Amino acid sequence: MITIALSKGRIYEETLPLLEAAGIVPAEDPEKSRKLILATNHPGVRVIIVRASDVPTYVQYGAADLGVAGLDLLLEHGGKGLYQPLDLGIARCKLMVAVPEGFDYQAAVRRGARLRVATKYIGTAREHFAAKGVHVDLIKLYGSMELAPLVGLADAIVDVVDTGSTLRANRLVAVEEILRISSRLVVNPASMKVKRAEVVPVIEAFERASRA
Ligand code: ATP
Ligand code: PRP
Repeated sequence: MITIALSKGRIYEETLPLLEAAGIVPAEDPEKSRKLILATNHPGVRVIIVRASDVPTYVQYGAADLGVAGLDLLLEHGGKGLYQPLDLGIARCKLMVAVPEGFDYQAAVRRGARLRVATKYIGTAREHFAAKGVHVDLIKLYGSMELAPLVGLADAIVDVVDTGSTLRANRLVAVEEILRISSRLVVNPASMKVKRAEVVPVIEAFERASRA
């Protein structure tokens, strides 16, 4: 039996066609079912539904053999104990620094101001600002980062941006790109050896489908 860890929403939806290409069809829709373990048409494959940020952890510890996770979350996790064979090219977005309209970020950086930055991505943000020599106090949030500057919690945020509509709706502007993001297939290295005959065909099918 192999176990594939996915998160609900865009990762699940965008991985479905890749699973199908590997001949794997989940028996239930996680948006409708409350079940966290989904059987599939394939007796040797099951899908587990976890938080997006928990996918690397399930795979690292071998509770799942494979998983799909955004590069943003993989970098925060650190990637320890994960084989990352494939960029699936799905859930594309960018990790950006954003500030309220009218806030002159570049001027603040030039004069060496100490900025309060709210983000879910503490590790990546710390590295980014340290590399640029920008002084920051990082404030950990778990979501709705765009709210923080609007209510005085932070001067800036680090968050993922796709269409930019969330920033626009909250009168924020992106001022710096940190990272281009897509989702990756992650594999437990022990599963790669012990369950090679089951795992490798899935990796190969994902590779063919994501290239197509
Ligand atoms: P959690 O539930 O653990 O807080 P999350 O809310 O970030 O995680 P999703 O919103 O499903 O989970 O995002 C999963 C992945 O999709 C992210 O890690 C990121 O790589 C990518 N992503 C996030 N937002 C967007 C977006 N608006 N457009 C495209 N890709 C996105
Ligand atoms: C993500 C992210 C941003 C938004 C960016 O939120 O946290 O807020 O997408 O996308 P945009 O540039 O196209 O507006 P999501 O829609 O996943 O909601 P979430 O807060 O549940 O993660």
